Parts: sequence; structure tokens; C-alpha cells
Amino acid sequence: MSTDGKRRVPRLLLLALVVFGAYFGFVLVFDVLLGHLIPKSLLTMYMVFVVAGALMAFTFTEDGARELVAPIKALVEDPRRKIARNVVFTALPLLAGYYAYASLQPSYEAPVELRSIHPAPPARFKAFGKSHELQKLENPYRKFEKEDPAKFRALVREGGEVYIRNCQYCHGDKLDGKGPYAAGLNPTPLNFQDVGTIAQLQESFVFWRISTGGPGLPKEAAPWISSMPVWQDFLTEDEIWKVILFLYDYTGRAPRSWE
Ligand code: HEC
Repeated sequence: MSTDGKRRVPRLLLLALVVFGAYFGFVLVFDVLLGHLIPKSLLTMYMVFVVAGALMAFTFTEDGARELVAPIKALVEDPRRKIARNVVFTALPLLAGYYAYASLQPSYEAPVELRSIHPAPPARFKAFGKSHELQKLENPYRKFEKEDPAKFRALVREGGEVYIRNCQYCHGDKLDGKGPYAAGLNPTPLNFQDVGTIAQLQESFVFWRISTGGPGLPKEAAPWISSMPVWQDFLTEDEIWKVILFLYDYTGRAPRSWE
């Protein structure tokens, strides 16, 4: 203990002050000076360094180390501290238990990352064992819209069946993204009635999205895990082109063309 007669601040308290001071310092610098909250992961990283550094400094000499742990040692060993010991050894596990319980509560907040709903598509992609060039890919059935309207209606109807059997669970029977599963999904299934979805897209882009699904999305689109299935595993190429006809027909939208 201190020999100079004055009562000094216990080193354990000093260590705690340094660590908490650094903690609030970081929060203040970010919040007040930089004007935004410090990300939790960054704060955690900084604090690991602060704690490691402070511990090194505080235990640099053997005396210093002994002085640092003296209050803890006393608490554990000193018979006169029985009450304090019992209080601490009951409260600590309770606090830790409460913390674990609280951190297990689900959060309903959306992730902070921005997600681009229509990511830049790859120039080429693989589906059905072939490599496709997005620019050149066309819906083989689109031409019948003008050439053979009766045949086109039949194809749209077949596409409608593909949709009702496979897609409405998520995208809804009115194509409004409100299928029975939709409430449980994040990101939510897209609403094809909205001008912001298929009306903005070429059929080849839609083909790419349907065949390769959520796992086919490039990185910038997928900080969240999309539940959109990889339909090339369940449907034929023809079925996908037909369901695309149906999507545009039912919503009364026209696919975007490259021109
Ligand atoms: C399990 C739920 C689920 C099913 C079933 C499902 N989808 Fe999706 N779909 C999603 C989700 C979620 C998104 C939005 C996230 C994304 O873009 O991957 C999406 C996105 C899409 C997109 C992208 C649209 C755009 O504007 O970028 C298309 C096209 C699409 N789905 C078509 C279909 C078709 C066609 C079917 C049926 C063959 C289908 N989906 C079945 C969940 C589903």
C-alpha cells in the first residue's frame, strides 16, 4: 500500500476510470464532434485496445500489479469482508445472467446497411448449365404477342399456373408482394404491381433474378439474406419465360427494352 502517508486513489478504481473515460471519450468525439453515433463494432474494437493497453500499463511493475489486484484479493480472502463478498458473488452472476437474457431478445430494427433492390446485373451469368449474356437474352415467347395472340394468351395462362403453384406464397395472388409467407420474410417479397419493380426491368434481368434467386445476387445487394428461391433448380427454362409473360400481363406492365 502507499507509503507516502496520503491516501491515494486505488489503482483498480483508476483503471476503471481510465477505461470508462476512454469509452465516454469515444462516444463524445463521435457524437458531438463528428455528429454521428459510433458503430458498436468499432467501439468494441477500440475498447479492446484500450483495455489491453491499460492493463499493460497498470501491471508494468510487479508492485503495480499487486496493488491493482489487492482489493480483489482482499474481497476474496479477507474474513472481515464476508458480507461484501456474498453481495458481490451473488450480484455478479445475476447481472451477467440478466445481460445474457437481455441480449437474446430479438430486435425488430432493420439492419443499417443500405440494400440496393435492383443491383447492377452481371454481364453474363450461368443458369441451366449454360452461360447467358444478359444483353442478348430474349424471351423466346414475346414475339407471339404480335404474331399469334391466341397462342400468346395460352402461354400467359400456363405462366399463370406456374405462378400460382410456386410464387404466390410469397409474392401474393394479386402479385402485390403480400403472400401468406410475406410477413415472415426480410427482405420482403417484391410487389410486382409497384412501378419500381418489373416495369423497370428487361425480361432478361427478370430471367436472371428468377433462375438464380437470392443466392445469385451480387454482394452489394445481399447484406440481408433474400429468401427468393433459385428457380432453375425447380422449374424449366420454358416455365420461367412463361411466368415472366404472366407477371407483365397480369400487372399490365411492359418490360423495358434495351433501346
Ligand atoms: C420464399 C418466398 C419467395 C417465393 C416462393 C418466390 N419469391 Fe421472388 N422474391 C422473394 C423475395 C424475398 C424477393 C426480394 C428479394 C430479392 O430481390 O431477392 C423476391 C424477388 C423477386 C424478383 C426480383 C424483382 C425485382 O424487381 O428485382 C422476381 C422477378 C421474383 N422474385 C420472381 C419470382 C417468381 C416468378 C417466383 C415463382 C416462380 C417467385 N419469385 C417465388 C421471395 C420469393
